[in-house]
Amino acid sequence: MKPAAPLKKVRKAVIPAAGLGTRFLPATKASPKEMLPLVDKPIIQYVVEEAVAAGIEQIIIITGRGKRAIEDHFDISFELEEELKGKKKQKLLEEVERISNMVDFCYVRQKRPLGLGHAINCARDLVNDEPFAVLLGDDVIDDEVPCLRRMIDAHEECSASVLGIQKVPRADVSSYGIIDAAEASRGLYKVRDMVEKPSPKEAPSNLAVIGRYILMPEIFEYIGKTPPGKGGEIQLTDALRLMLKDRPIYGLELVGKRFDAGSKIGFLKATVEFALKNPELGKEFRTYLKNLPL
Ligand code: G1P
Repeated sequence: MKPAAPLKKVRKAVIPAAGLGTRFLPATKASPKEMLPLVDKPIIQYVVEEAVAAGIEQIIIITGRGKRAIEDHFDISFELEEELKGKKKQKLLEEVERISNMVDFCYVRQKRPLGLGHAINCARDLVNDEPFAVLLGDDVIDDEVPCLRRMIDAHEECSASVLGIQKVPRADVSSYGIIDAAEASRGLYKVRDMVEKPSPKEAPSNLAVIGRYILMPEIFEYIGKTPPGKGGEIQLTDALRLMLKDRPIYGLELVGKRFDAGSKIGFLKATVEFALKNPELGKEFRTYLKNLPL
């Protein structure tokens, strides 16, 4: 038997950001939802920072029409930097420069909104034959250890694809990919089956896939074979389900606090909690909240 090839390092991360942001209209009519600020940083910057802190070296952002602000945000801004230099605003200058120097960025446009599986497939040539991470921008995760780092560690341990999972209330299962799984060790589950957005009655469990994935590069072959599913879209969950017939997939239960920043209420909760933690604003904001006539 041929010895198994050594596992390649997870160096690249794909962030799909081509969605229309309909859950956040009218704010997203002319601006990308990924650029809505949570306190003082756009949502997508939290996700990029998590990936960088986890050791990712290249970020591939899948964009679409009306998403140019994302590219500008992570690019250098010559005029702004000169202005800040001239005004001796050193701290702001460092922060602005840090954003564009953080990591290597690439952009691919998804021409039609054909689903998450299709969006990931747009990165196929850039990812090539390496295991890679996927981070969905709606899920902002606050954790001491970057959530993606925990997932890369689990992937290195089991040499397979790993999905970020969390238990959700039964009533909410229809918003997620749901797995049927057996716990292999504490917090790590071996996936037996999975289904995209089932009704509470059909759901095999309440273990929901949240927006973090470490995928083996073979996923691209399976995406290529996946017919349109829920909503007529090429679903990543369906491609994973096909892959499951040939290869193991694990789910890692995430311990950090997750905010669904793509919904209005999730965004508000994230804003309040990040503001309370903010070193410049936290104290004053806490006093303000305490004095509100609730
Ligand atoms: C996507 C996936 C779903 C997953 C969810 C996590 O759905 O299709 O399987 O559970 O992200 O946020 P979306 O929220 O994009 O509709």
